[in-house]
Amino acid sequence: MGDQKTAALGTWANRWTFILAAAGSAIGLGNIWKFPFITGEYGGGAFVLVYLVCIALVGIPIMMAETVLGRHGRHSPIVTMRELARESDAGRGWSLVGWMGVLAGFLILSFYSVIAGWALAFTWDMGAGVLMGLTGEQVGAHFDALIADPVRLTFWHTLFMVLTALVIARGIHKGLENSVRVIMPLLFVLLIVLLGYSIVETDQFGRGFSFLFSFDFSKLTWEAVLAAMGHAFFTLSLGMGAIMAYGAYMPKSASIGSTVITVAVLDTIVALVAGLAIFPIVFANGMEPGAGPGLLFVSLPTAFGHMPGGQVFGVLFFVLVSLAALSSSISLIEPAVAWATERFSMSRLVATSLFSALVWLIGMGTVFSFNLWSGEEYQWFGMTVFELLDFVTANIMLPLGGLLIAIFAGWIMKRSVVYKELNLSLVRFNLWRALCRVIAPVCVFVIFVANLYKAIA
Ligand code: TRP
Repeated sequence: MGDQKTAALGTWANRWTFILAAAGSAIGLGNIWKFPFITGEYGGGAFVLVYLVCIALVGIPIMMAETVLGRHGRHSPIVTMRELARESDAGRGWSLVGWMGVLAGFLILSFYSVIAGWALAFTWDMGAGVLMGLTGEQVGAHFDALIADPVRLTFWHTLFMVLTALVIARGIHKGLENSVRVIMPLLFVLLIVLLGYSIVETDQFGRGFSFLFSFDFSKLTWEAVLAAMGHAFFTLSLGMGAIMAYGAYMPKSASIGSTVITVAVLDTIVALVAGLAIFPIVFANGMEPGAGPGLLFVSLPTAFGHMPGGQVFGVLFFVLVSLAALSSSISLIEPAVAWATERFSMSRLVATSLFSALVWLIGMGTVFSFNLWSGEEYQWFGMTVFELLDFVTANIMLPLGGLLIAIFAGWIMKRSVVYKELNLSLVRFNLWRALCRVIAPVCVFVIFVANLYKAIA
């Protein structure tokens, strides 16, 4: 099935290219911006521990399941789900998983692009030198002024969507493969430099460390557990077909298990290192760890502003954050573009333009969330459009998508087919299968129900 498609689109050059592309998708704003700020909001250590458990017990098995579906189906996620359901004698309804994924991708990208726009804006401001030598408070005021200005936000959001569209339109090979090869190692090196700075210069490293790793379970609520699970899905790019789409281009010879584990470990390391670099700086400047979405954009520029060579490092850092965001944003829209080109023989350019414009428009809701629509009359359940999109996608749509993918791979697909795709020893295969059939679905389900119960009670 579908092997011509593989030939037409080509496969990744080798296993490492898949690792880089999947890591490019996984490592992004989720690691550097979102992880530190939600960890701060939920009070640190206990949240981090739950997040790590979710990565291991839920994230990795489901990532393997999603890759299996993709590589076995060899089509865009919507078509893959339909074909695999047919092959497994299951209902056509399973293609809904693909549809929900496309929708989730649009919604996530709509706010992702606005935040990535902040990174572009800070690249510019760092370069212009206006952030040098300021106190944390002054950088905070600078950040507040940016998000209060819908025109500036729209400008940077538009620029980021155009960049995303340019890479997507060129296809994954020329656009993506080459860029992730450079971006990912550089980002890593820069994070280490920042980590070094926060160890040497802030003398708050110990406090940052214990904030992240001392587990105070009295702070743990079901809401925090839901957020930790949602973030595990978000940070690994799971539950919406991105990994399925990338899996479709994976060579048959590569081992899914070790590849996926490599990606998940890299992703986790980047998040933890980002946290270890950021929190000491936060504490040293008397800022609040629970400062919310602005945390990264206030703490790091403050540090750069006082660092020797900080201006250069600062520019470089925000360029890299923007690029890491770019290699993720591409995977949010790829399933839709792949589907449109496959289903309607639409050119990549037309499909990209169409969908990018739509995502851009939805993104204006997030732009206004910080200014024109920040008032209560524009809130639902006490959340702005941005907060609502973030909550519904990460905490509901992605876990639900992941749950269905796990059930499909664990219960619907033929065991022999999955066994062959995974190509693991019997012991490891059975371990994976137990996680995928029972543990992961039960975890997701229990967390959902607990939160629902809490919301009603
Ligand atoms: N994982 C990316 C990050 O952490 C975001 C992302 C890219 C994503 N593709 C995705 C999230 C698909 C969910 C689904 O920044």
